[in-house]
Amino acid sequence: MSKALQITAIKGMNDILPPESARWEWLEAIVRRVMAEHAYRNVRMPIMEQTQLYTRGLGEVTDIVEKEMYAFEDRADQHGRADHLALRPEGTAGLVRAVAEHNLLYDGGKRLYYMGPMFRRERPQRGRYRQFHQIGAEALGFGGPELDAELILLAVALWRELGIQNWRLELNSLGQPDERREHRAALIAYFEAHAEQLDEDARRRLHSNPLRILDTKNPAMQALVEGAPQLIDYLGDASRQHFEAVQAILAASGVEWRINPRLVRGLDYYNLTVFEFITESLGAQGTICGGGRYDYLIEQIGGKPAPAVGWALGVERVLELLKEEGVHTLDPQPDAYAVIPDAAALPQAMRLLNQLRALGVAVQMHAGTGEGMGSMKSQFKKADGSGARFALIFGADELAAGEVTVKALRDGAGAQTRQSLAEPATWADILKSTT
Ligand code: HAM
Repeated sequence: MSKALQITAIKGMNDILPPESARWEWLEAIVRRVMAEHAYRNVRMPIMEQTQLYTRGLGEVTDIVEKEMYAFEDRADQHGRADHLALRPEGTAGLVRAVAEHNLLYDGGKRLYYMGPMFRRERPQRGRYRQFHQIGAEALGFGGPELDAELILLAVALWRELGIQNWRLELNSLGQPDERREHRAALIAYFEAHAEQLDEDARRRLHSNPLRILDTKNPAMQALVEGAPQLIDYLGDASRQHFEAVQAILAASGVEWRINPRLVRGLDYYNLTVFEFITESLGAQGTICGGGRYDYLIEQIGGKPAPAVGWALGVERVLELLKEEGVHTLDPQPDAYAVIPDAAALPQAMRLLNQLRALGVAVQMHAGTGEGMGSMKSQFKKADGSGARFALIFGADELAAGEVTVKALRDGAGAQTRQSLAEPATWADILKSTT
């Protein structure tokens, strides 16, 4: 038989395996609790949508739509018609599509959150993957600055509950479409006057998306960009007041921020407040969370107009940051490990183990290789390695007496008692973890 070629995972798409996966579950449990405390409710959208949703929603001249989407033509139906589909590069557009499609705002605004994989064909590197995971929070149907502030405070509460210290908040206001038009004209005029200093990317964007030129990473263009007209100077009274009201709430809550007039975000749907949480601990991919207001996205994709604001965090980056900061995350270990010297004990042992589990005890059973259960020595080695605090020993003597031996493996190691097989409810509590 010829050896089959080993199949590997796709570059930039990672398996999340134990013990790492326990850190994911730990984080997700904290997120669910914090979301519930803020009255945000869970939504699960499909992982694929019509490509159009993203070209229309995120903007044609964004990196994501221009070059990072996994988009393809589906198989044709019997009439030869084929859908254009894309793996979701982010969650907001799909969530907004779902909200509009199901008329979720019929009785007022909604606070929603989601968790799940997103897909972008970026160059994989630390903190940047092709399948990555976002947790997003979005409030739809509310136009006031208090919601912008609530979402920022929600993220801050999450950092606190997760134990993350090293972050800073950057804020900007992108104003309203008419204010942006005016600023855009000034920006184009400014860049045209300095056309010789523009790189190729900037030249291409000059008339399609000049705001994104401000986001350039090209060191040769930094001075030019520094001197460019700032949108914040083009804001009218209403936009200015909205922005100030957000800041007043943050200040009263003791949250610090920095205004970054060059913060424009990589998606086109934003207006008014935009923000990012950035850390210095992760190198180049230091943005752990980004978001802002997107009051025109719903109508852009064909829904009834409604204001909205939200953010999404990158789970991989947040977990990496937790590691950098040495935050201890819980890795659940079984309370007890069942040592089974002889396979003949299995029926009685497994009956008891299931009763213990129903009483809330986490139990791992020793399993044989198919050629017997293995020596007591090797079983105890496995019991130690499992992290369990107790061994349950199902020896022939014990079973004959209708009992099981409970032996401490950690605190007071070696101490043992005999317990009744018939009445696990009377003693199961001694196995349970108190932490
Ligand atoms: P975004 O800034 O494109 O915004 O992504 C949000 C976060 O996802 C980033 O700050 C980063 O932590 C993480 N992220 C993005 N791309 C990658 C990648 N290739 N690998 C690892 N992590 C990544 C959005 O997606 C908007 N939908 C956020 C939003 C929600 N705005 C309003 N509501």
